[in-house]
Amino acid sequence: MCGIFAYAGSENAVPLLIDGLRSVEYRGYDSAGISVIDESGSIQTVKRGDHKSSLENLAEAVSSGKLSGQVGIGHTRWATHGVVNQKNSHPHSSSDGTVSIAHNGIIENFLELKDELIDSGIEFKSETDSEVLAHLIGNAVESGSSLREAVIGAASRIRGNTAVVAVSAAEPGIAVGLRVGNAGGIVIGKNDSAAVMASDTIALLPYINEVIYLEPGEVVEIERGVIRLFNLEGSVIERESVVTAQNFEAAQKGNHPHFMSKEIAEQPEAIQGALRGRADFAAGTLDIPEITLTRDQIKSIDRIILTGMGTAYNTALYGASVIESLARIPATAQNSSELRYSNPVLNSNTLVIAVTQSGETADTLAAMEHARQAGSPVGVVVEFEGSQATRIADFTLPVRAGQEIGVASTKTMIASMTTLLQLAVSLGQIRGILDADRVKQIVGQLAELPSLVATTLELDGEITPLAERLATFGDLLYLGRGDQVPIALEGALKMKELAYIHPEGNPAGEMKHGMNALLGSDMATIVCAPKNGLYEKMLSNISEVKARGGEVAAIVTEGDDVVERIADHMIQVPDSPEILQPFMTLIPMQILAYRTALALGRDPDKPRNLAKTVTVE
Ligand code: F6R
Repeated sequence: MCGIFAYAGSENAVPLLIDGLRSVEYRGYDSAGISVIDESGSIQTVKRGDHKSSLENLAEAVSSGKLSGQVGIGHTRWATHGVVNQKNSHPHSSSDGTVSIAHNGIIENFLELKDELIDSGIEFKSETDSEVLAHLIGNAVESGSSLREAVIGAASRIRGNTAVVAVSAAEPGIAVGLRVGNAGGIVIGKNDSAAVMASDTIALLPYINEVIYLEPGEVVEIERGVIRLFNLEGSVIERESVVTAQNFEAAQKGNHPHFMSKEIAEQPEAIQGALRGRADFAAGTLDIPEITLTRDQIKSIDRIILTGMGTAYNTALYGASVIESLARIPATAQNSSELRYSNPVLNSNTLVIAVTQSGETADTLAAMEHARQAGSPVGVVVEFEGSQATRIADFTLPVRAGQEIGVASTKTMIASMTTLLQLAVSLGQIRGILDADRVKQIVGQLAELPSLVATTLELDGEITPLAERLATFGDLLYLGRGDQVPIALEGALKMKELAYIHPEGNPAGEMKHGMNALLGSDMATIVCAPKNGLYEKMLSNISEVKARGGEVAAIVTEGDDVVERIADHMIQVPDSPEILQPFMTLIPMQILAYRTALALGRDPDKPRNLAKTVTVE
């Protein structure tokens, strides 16, 4: 959700805050704002609440260089409480303007606190939950507390997950950060002339490659060249910084028009990243060194639950299907927001595997914590290696796709699928289900995956006219069977989030149980029908749609000369071993959504009402 950034140093903070916000803007773009402590010691705040153009408008507003100061905070918003406008934009100020805060998360008891503050005579300027923090902290500072003490005091009053940064005119050299629960991280770094903190490591990389992660229940004070950590009792915490593997250049768009097109194109390398150090192509063997469970523990697993949200949930569905099929362990996927409330049977023989690009999704973290408390071993398939999910999990399987900035997950999904396929092989091997020959065969097939995906990416030109056609529909149906169901669901998810067309993703067998009522010329159907054991059943589904006047676009295996006789449009993906087919059909789904979004004039990197890292429930 929202992005926060703070700077305390020797340079003018204003352009650095704008640059920092550019790095975290993918977390929310409803508004953008900064507060700096100017030369006279007053806090100056500039903000814009203009949806997607907020940050550019803010940059323009401060471009004259008149505003300057060496300490400041900034925020990009994904609105939860209060509509998108200037007054609800962060930072928010205390009544006398001497404290300013930028907040990420939700204050669950904000109405109660707001009433209390209003009764004490405070006038609220916004409809946000966050503004209560500005007043709680402002009141404490006015009564003589230091900014750090005031922030710690506010932490004891609020419920819910929160990350906040604050500045006070009374202490013009410092900024303070607080993390309560899992509301997206705060990462801190310093060099001799500055200290910075942000929601995301990427915003710190221009300064430093060694970072400190703030844990839940901790406060940080930054000052030029100094970082001080405290717990909520105010005691000092010592923590060494860690070197981050993230790379600033890798998180830039380069020559691509959008992050999404860049990330789609990077998928062959993303797969290679996920295979590195695991699959040995020369020997035909596979080992996942990051799995810390003992062989006995692995043998005693009697059930696996995979969990995630959105695309990560679709990836979890794929993972469950491939694990059950290759390792013969009962495996299901559950939406993380439901897991802990569904009272699942969890014990030490249930392995829970979370899938998450960011490692900060609030529901996914809550599901992981729930599983841990129930005594289940927990693993995470994740892109961000320093994220909170990696600190909750017993073992971490990094997917190593490289930082993904586009709001819609693409390369991290394919790298997570690659990781889960290897996990399935590894579990099957350890449990004696897959012998060395079968493992060698799969490893040989995996060796071909990056180049097969690279060839599939060349379909872009062919997909564009189909995307232009799909852009004329208001409703779309996506169908698949077996391991193509998660791909059909993902195709539908991508299309809705990027093109804002209403799609339904369904197992193809389900259509007769309700969906068929909607078939007709005003709904197009996208079918995943590669040549596999379920192909003929998919042919029947295509015919059924055609018989009811529907238009069909089919994603099929190269050389298919049957589907072209019944479908209206065909995208032929490279012929591949069955085990790799979901990878082949995923690519056209991503490109279709991207191209349809462009055909409709949408911004695929900033879909409306969405943000990359969802740190609220
Ligand atoms: C859709 C998309 C989202 C994320 C979801 C989980 O394209 O990207 O559905 O997959 O918000 O995010 P992570 O993977 O960070 O837990």
